[in-house]
Amino acid sequence: MDRYVVIGNPIAHSRSPEIHARFARETGESISYERMRVDPGDFARAAGAFFAGGGRGANVTLPFKVDAFAFAREHTARAREAGAVNTLAVRDGAVLGDNTDGAGLVRDLTANLGLALAGRRILLLGAGGAARGVVGPLLALAPAALVVANRTPARALALANAFAAAGPVEGAALDAMGGGYDLVVNATSSSTRGEPLALPPGTFALGAFAYDMAYGAAAAPFLEAARRAGARASDGVGMLVEQAAESFFLWRGKRPDTAGAIAALRAS
Ligand code: ATR
Repeated sequence: MDRYVVIGNPIAHSRSPEIHARFARETGESISYERMRVDPGDFARAAGAFFAGGGRGANVTLPFKVDAFAFAREHTARAREAGAVNTLAVRDGAVLGDNTDGAGLVRDLTANLGLALAGRRILLLGAGGAARGVVGPLLALAPAALVVANRTPARALALANAFAAAGPVEGAALDAMGGGYDLVVNATSSSTRGEPLALPPGTFALGAFAYDMAYGAAAAPFLEAARRAGARASDGVGMLVEQAAESFFLWRGKRPDTAGAIAALRAS
């Protein structure tokens, strides 16, 4: 049986094993997929041992996405653009690094939630690794503007600068980011840290949508505040499932159905 793992720390609560088990069942693929906890500083050794032992692929989560980029021998264009890797796959005997996070977010926003974002104003909150991975894919939707706003403004400016050639992106401070956004994406770690973000009135345009890349209870305060401000809102369960489906496709060449997996995760 071909072996896959999800590598992170902490990893005990990762939903990826149940998502991939479902994909495998539904597509008739025979794979094993386990959690793998790795100590900080030990990523290259642990991943090296896994692939040397015949492992076929890995998902990589916090805090190892940059280590995974360094570990991979080859990179897809979207991994290079993100500077981070969430998916490793064996290709012609070498380990390929890919990043499916941005594609997963965009697919959830457009295919699942039905948002049409061309010509719209998008606000991306945060300028860390999670934000960096989705700037390119969001710009590919041809928004009128993508504003990256961050508590530490210099990081937002640097991130916007790095993508200046890809579309209308600018950096801003959290307290000076303007308003009237059609989509607000929370890519800060404020949700998972339990430090809710307060958005000024006017942040949301009429009919706006708020999206938190975190999911479950962690995302609730941000989404509740957005709903109080009149926006529709979703957590990141769909992104989680869609990025997994994209990884599964890279590994097995089959596109699993995602609606059932999203519904099952929401129900549990
Ligand atoms: P990740 O890879 O998850 O993005 P990161 O690189 O540590 O992790 O980035 C975390 C992001 O969340 C940053 O944009 C951070 O803002 P700073 O750059 O100012 O640190 C943001 N963040 C974390 N806690 C926050 C809070 N309580 N309020 C606002 N932003 C916060």
